[in-house]
Amino acid sequence: MKTDIEKIISLCKRRGIVFPSSEIYGGFASCYDFGPLGVELKNNIKRAWRDEMTKFHENIVGLDAGILMSPKIWKASGHLTAGFADELVECKKCHKRFKKDELKSQKCPECNGELTKSRKFNLMLKTFVGSVESEATATYLRPETCQGIYVNFLNVLNSARMKIPFGVAQVGKAFRNEITTKNFIFRLLEFEQMEMQWFCESKTSDKWFKYWKNERLKWYYDLGIEKENLRIIEVPEKERAHYAKKQIDIEYKFPFGWKEIEGVHNRGDYDLSNHMKHSGEDLRYYDEQSKKKYIPHIIETSAGVERILLAFLCEAYTEIKGGRTKTTKAKKEEEIVLKLNRRLAPVKAAILPLVKNKPELTKKAKQVYELLKPHFACQYDELGSIGRRYRRQDEIGTPLCLTIDFESLENNDLTIRFRDTMKQERVKIDELTETVRNKLV
Ligand code: GAP
Repeated sequence: MKTDIEKIISLCKRRGIVFPSSEIYGGFASCYDFGPLGVELKNNIKRAWRDEMTKFHENIVGLDAGILMSPKIWKASGHLTAGFADELVECKKCHKRFKKDELKSQKCPECNGELTKSRKFNLMLKTFVGSVESEATATYLRPETCQGIYVNFLNVLNSARMKIPFGVAQVGKAFRNEITTKNFIFRLLEFEQMEMQWFCESKTSDKWFKYWKNERLKWYYDLGIEKENLRIIEVPEKERAHYAKKQIDIEYKFPFGWKEIEGVHNRGDYDLSNHMKHSGEDLRYYDEQSKKKYIPHIIETSAGVERILLAFLCEAYTEIKGGRTKTTKAKKEEEIVLKLNRRLAPVKAAILPLVKNKPELTKKAKQVYELLKPHFACQYDELGSIGRRYRRQDEIGTPLCLTIDFESLENNDLTIRFRDTMKQERVKIDELTETVRNKLV
């Protein structure tokens, strides 16, 4: 059953995953903050992506280029020209801007004012470097992270002694002056991208395009997205990004419809040849076998962290009417279980003394917490009934609950309870680190 996005928003706020930005000042449209659990979830997504790229694939190295770069880059990349602009109309009265193709009437949807003719507005956020604000000191917050990779192509090639085909992977912030503000964290002004640029010979680019499309789909399936909730859209030429020779969008079936979460692009030699032209540097690759120089072609995989986080939340959110527990009181309540993949879950194990006011139990439980804390993201919780504490952990997707009871004091063991099945298993504390590790695989 698909979930209502309002329920996800409420869970995110209640459990410290996502907060509206600047809330005490009335908010700031299309901006959000990530709370204690949101940070962990985001980091786990980024780690899973980085591992996939640089550990599980050969010949991909990392990079962390800056957000601020020479404004010349944005001229060379085509972002300063019409290539990176939205067709907008502006209200003559309140000066709000709207996407022309999303308007239902010829009047301003906010104040009914008259609208201007549509014109192109660049999506880049401008800033100034230095003490004077002028066109000469203007630069832009990067709207995509990959340009940092292209302008470092030679640095990476030479310092890491890479041979084509090879990839460079980067995770970092990107900024776009978006004007559509619906659908929670789907479209943001400030967001993170996970981008990998694969440099290859032109004649192999179709093969690699297909390869990376399949690899990216597999990554989502491995992390728990059902096949029926993902689809591939071949983007027709007139809708493609200005740099793309070929483009597919990976779309997820959100509660508000099918929407793009990642793009795979064949950028051809667009980027390196433009940077070569504008910088005057020779960005060609010397092939030792053929003894020839050529401009490598680029296959790009480009994913948005927050959109993927939202997709994982929608996929994992499971509501159980009447609850799963047998007590009549709990039955009346509805239970939420966040069935996140174990690699993504912000908390891996919760350590729970059966009751709070028994010092010998809490002492033992704290010892278990200290034992596991260096190895796994753990939470210690002694507040409320054990049933309520299990439900709190289910709601944030904690795969394992470890309960310390009176038997634990005698036998040096505890109960592991599994989130999805609620099955319980008795295990020895002496072997706990290894046992928990095995259960999290
Ligand atoms: N370098 C290629 C590039 O940036 P894109 O399709 O414009 O391609 C790639 O963006 C991904 O970045 C999208 O699939 C989406 O996940 C994410 N993204 C783009 N704009 C976004 C925004 N305003 N808010 C959140 N994520 C965004």
